[in-house]
Amino acid sequence: MTEKNFNSDSEIIKPVHTSKVGGSPFKGVAGWIDNRLPILRIFKYEYLDFQVPKSLNYFWSLGGILMVCLIFLIITGVTLGMHYKPSSSEAFNSVEKIMRDVNFGWLIRYAHMNLASFFFIAVYLHIFRGLYYGSYKEPRQLMWLLGIIIFFMMMATAFLGYTLPWGQMSYWGATVITNLFSAIPVVGKFIVTWLWGDYAVGDSTLNRFYVLHWLIAFGIVGIVVFHVIALHIVGSNNPSGIEPVDTRDTVSFAPYTTSKDLFAMLVFLLIFVLFMMYIPNYLGHPDNYIPANPLVTPAHIVPEWYFLPYYAILRSIPNKLLGVIAMVSSIAMLGLLPWLDLSKVRSSVFRPIWKQFIFLFVLDFFLLMYLGKMPPEGVYVILSRIGLAYWFMFFLIITPLVSIMETPLQMPNSIHEYEDWKKKGKIKTLKIF
Ligand code: HEM
Repeated sequence: MTEKNFNSDSEIIKPVHTSKVGGSPFKGVAGWIDNRLPILRIFKYEYLDFQVPKSLNYFWSLGGILMVCLIFLIITGVTLGMHYKPSSSEAFNSVEKIMRDVNFGWLIRYAHMNLASFFFIAVYLHIFRGLYYGSYKEPRQLMWLLGIIIFFMMMATAFLGYTLPWGQMSYWGATVITNLFSAIPVVGKFIVTWLWGDYAVGDSTLNRFYVLHWLIAFGIVGIVVFHVIALHIVGSNNPSGIEPVDTRDTVSFAPYTTSKDLFAMLVFLLIFVLFMMYIPNYLGHPDNYIPANPLVTPAHIVPEWYFLPYYAILRSIPNKLLGVIAMVSSIAMLGLLPWLDLSKVRSSVFRPIWKQFIFLFVLDFFLLMYLGKMPPEGVYVILSRIGLAYWFMFFLIITPLVSIMETPLQMPNSIHEYEDWKKKGKIKTLKIF
C-alpha cells in the first residue's frame, strides 16, 4: 500500500481561517464585542440600514405587532406558570386563586387570555395581507410555508392552553378534539389513549398538555426566527407587488418604518387594553367558569372564536374521518397557493377579478365562523356545506383558472411610479391605507 504524504510537494496547500475575528464597523467597547460576537453589526445592517419599499402600508406593521404579542404572551404565560397547578384536582382553583389572591394576577391572566385572541386577529390580518398582495409568490414561498407552520403551532398552543383552566369547555373541548384522532383507521383508538395518557381525558392529560403548551409556544419563537431571517434574505413585498430597483423606491427601516410600526403597535395595544379592561370575558365562554365535570356534558360544545370556521367545516361532513381531513386540509390548502396561483402579477391592486374572489373568500370565512357557533342542524348544515364548497373551489379551481385567464390592469414600471400614480388617482387601493 502506498502511503499518502500530506506534506509532499504534490499536496495543494491552502490557507485556512478558523478565526473570523474583526470586520466590525464599530469602535471601542462596542467594536470589541462586535468583532467577537457580530450582533451589533447584524442589528446595524439588518435594521438601521435595511432598505424597505417606500410604499408599505399599515398591513406591513402586523409582523412587528405579532412579535410584540408573542413576547407579551410569553412574559404573562411564564408569570401565570409560577402560580398555576397542572393537576385535575387543583387546576381550576389555582386559576381562581390567581384571579383573586395573587397580586395583579387578574391583570396577568386577562392579558394572557385576551392576547391569545388578539394574536389571532393580527395573524388573520397578516395572512390576508399576504393573500391580497401576493406575498406568497416567488421568492417568498418559504416565508409563506414557515408562516403556515407557525399558524398550525399557534392553533395547537391555543387549544392546549384552553384546557388548562380545567373548566367545562376546557374539559369537553379537549375530549371532542382529541377524539377526532380516533377517526384514523386502525391506529386511531390507540393514538387517542396515548394522547390522553389514560382511558379518558384526566389528570395525566392535563399534565402533558401543560408541558406541550409551553414547549410549542417556545417552538413558535424558533420558527419566527427562521421566518424573519428568510425575510431579510428575500426582502419585503409591497402593495404594488413590484420589486424595488433604486433608492427612489426605498426608505431605510429606521427611523421611517420603525416609527410607523411603533404608531401601529400603540394603536393596537390601546384597543387591546380597552378590550381587556372593559370586556375581558367577551370572547370566552361562560361555561368555562364551571369546574370540569366528566359526568355533565354542556348543551353546546364550542371552541374559541378563532377555530369556529374550521369547526363548521368539520361538522358539515357526516363522516368523521372525511370531516377531519376536510378541516386539516382547509388550512393546509394555503400552503399550495404559491403553486396554484400562476399569475405573474403579485398584487391584487392590478388583478380586478382575483380581487373579487378574495373578498368572497373573506366573506366565506366569516360565514363559516358564524356557522361554527350555531348548532349543527337544518339550514346551518346546508350553509356550512356551501361555505366548505366555496373554500375548496377557491383554492383548487378559481385560483389557477383566474390566474391563467385574467388580464391584469396596466402596471407602473417602478414603486416610485406606483406612488405617483396613486397620488394622481390613477390607481384604486384600499382607501384606509
Ligand atoms: C407568530 C406569528 C408571526 C410572526 C411573529 C410573523 C412575523 C413577521 C414579520 C416581522 C414580518 C415582516 C413584517 C411584515 O411584513 O409584516 C413578516 C412577513 C411575512 N409573513 Fe409573517 N409572522 C407570523 C405569522 C405568519 C403567518 C401565519 C403567515 C402566513 C401563513 C406569514 C407570512 C408572512 C409573509 C408571506 C411575509 C412577507 C410579507 C411581505 O413581505 O409582503 N407570517 N412576518
